[in-house]
Amino acid sequence: MRESPLAKLTLERRVLVTVGAGGVGKTTTAAALSVAAARRGRRVLCLTIDPARRLAESLGIAEMSADAVEIPRARFEAAGVPMEGSLTAMMLDTKRTFDELVVKHSSTPQKAQQLLDNKLYKYVSTSLAGTQEYMAMEKLVAVKDDPRYDLVVLDTPPTANALDFLDAPERLTDALDSATMKWFIEAFESSGKLSLNVIARSAAAVLRGIGKITGGGFLEAMAEFLSELNDLFGGFKERAARVQRTLRSPEVAFVLVTSPSPPSLKEAQYFAERLEQHGMPKGSFIVNRLHVTPPFAETGVTQRQAEDGLAARDVSLEDGGAERCVQAHGDLVRLAALDAQNLRVLDAHGTPIVRVAELDTDVRDIALLAAVGEILMEGGV
Ligand SMILES: Nc1ncnc2c1ncn2[C@@H]1O[C@H](COP(=O)(O)OP(=O)(O)O)[C@@H](O)[C@H]1O
Ligand SMILES: [Mg+2]
Repeated sequence: MRESPLAKLTLERRVLVTVGAGGVGKTTTAAALSVAAARRGRRVLCLTIDPARRLAESLGIAEMSADAVEIPRARFEAAGVPMEGSLTAMMLDTKRTFDELVVKHSSTPQKAQQLLDNKLYKYVSTSLAGTQEYMAMEKLVAVKDDPRYDLVVLDTPPTANALDFLDAPERLTDALDSATMKWFIEAFESSGKLSLNVIARSAAAVLRGIGKITGGGFLEAMAEFLSELNDLFGGFKERAARVQRTLRSPEVAFVLVTSPSPPSLKEAQYFAERLEQHGMPKGSFIVNRLHVTPPFAETGVTQRQAEDGLAARDVSLEDGGAERCVQAHGDLVRLAALDAQNLRVLDAHGTPIVRVAELDTDVRDIALLAAVGEILMEGGV
C-alpha cells in the first residue's frame, strides 16, 4: 500500500490546520482526518468554524457548541466505524474567545467589565476584519497543550481569502498599533473629555475601517473603547507573537485544501509560498473534488458499449440517450485531463499532493466522513 503523507501527519503531528479558499472542502477534510485519526487510537479534538452546522449534522449531534462535545463511540459503531480513540468536536465562538481574552488580560476585573460592557466592543469582537481568524488561532494556542487530546485539527473560517488567516494576528496588532489609534487614545486621555471636531477629523481613517455605525455618543464610546483596549494592548501583542510562534512549531502542519479550478489552485499556491516565507510547516496539498478519468478513456466509448453497459444495469434509454451518454463520457475524459493539467502547477512546491475524487454525494454523515478519511489515509485516487 502507498504511504500517504496524510497518514503520517495525522498520526504524528499534534496540530493540523486545514486552509484554503471558501467551499473547497476544509471543514469536510478537517472532520474526515479527525475521524481517521480517532479510529486509529488518537484522542482528537476537531475545532471547527462551520456556520452552516453541516459538520454537527454529519456527526449526528444536534447542537455543536463552544463547549467540547465528545461524539459517543456507539454512534461510530452504528455507522460501521470502529473507534479505538475518541473524537471531540468544538465549535469556535469568536465573541466568547475574545471575552475570555479580555478577562484574562485586563489589569482589574472592573476594567474587563467596562470593556465587555462597551457598546463598540460587541461589534469589534465579532465583526472587525480579522478577529474571527485571529480568535481561531488564539483558541488553537489555548487547546494545543491540553493533555486530554493527542491531536487538534483546526478548521479555518470561510474567508474569501485564505491569507487573511495567516496575517490576522499581525493585522490585528497593527491596527491597534497604528499611529491613528495611538493619537486617538492620547487625544482622549490628555483632554479628559472629547473635542468632537478634532476627533472626528482625525478618526476618519479608523472609522472607515470599522464601518459605519451611527447613533448618539458614538465617538465618545469609540474613544473610551480604544482607551480600554489600550489597557490590554501589551497583552494582545504578546499573544499574537505567541500565536505566530506556535504556527511555526514542527508539531504543526498546514493542510492546503484546493479544488482543481485554477483560481483555487492559485490561492493554494500563494498560501504555500506564504507559509514558506513565514517558515511555517507545510504538510500536504489536498486536491478535492477532482474529476477522475473514467474507464475506456483512451479508446473512447462507442455507442454500442454505452448501450450494453446501461442494459447490464437494467437502464433503458429514451431516444438519443446512448449518444448523450457517449458525450457525457467524453466530457468527463476531457474534464479529468484538464484537471490533471491544471494540477501540474503544484508540482513545483515540493509538497506532497493527495487527490480526492468528486463523490456523487455530499459528505453528510459519519460513514461518508469515515470513507473520505480512509481515502485521505490511503493517499487518495
Ligand atoms: N470530495 C467531495 N465530493 C463531493 N462533495 C464534497 C466533497 N468534499 C466536500 N464536499 C461537499 O462540498 C461542500 C463544501 O464543503 P466544506 O467542507 O463545507 O467546504 P469549506 O469548509 O472549505 O467551505 C459540502 O457540502 C461537502 O459535503
Ligand atoms: Mg468550512
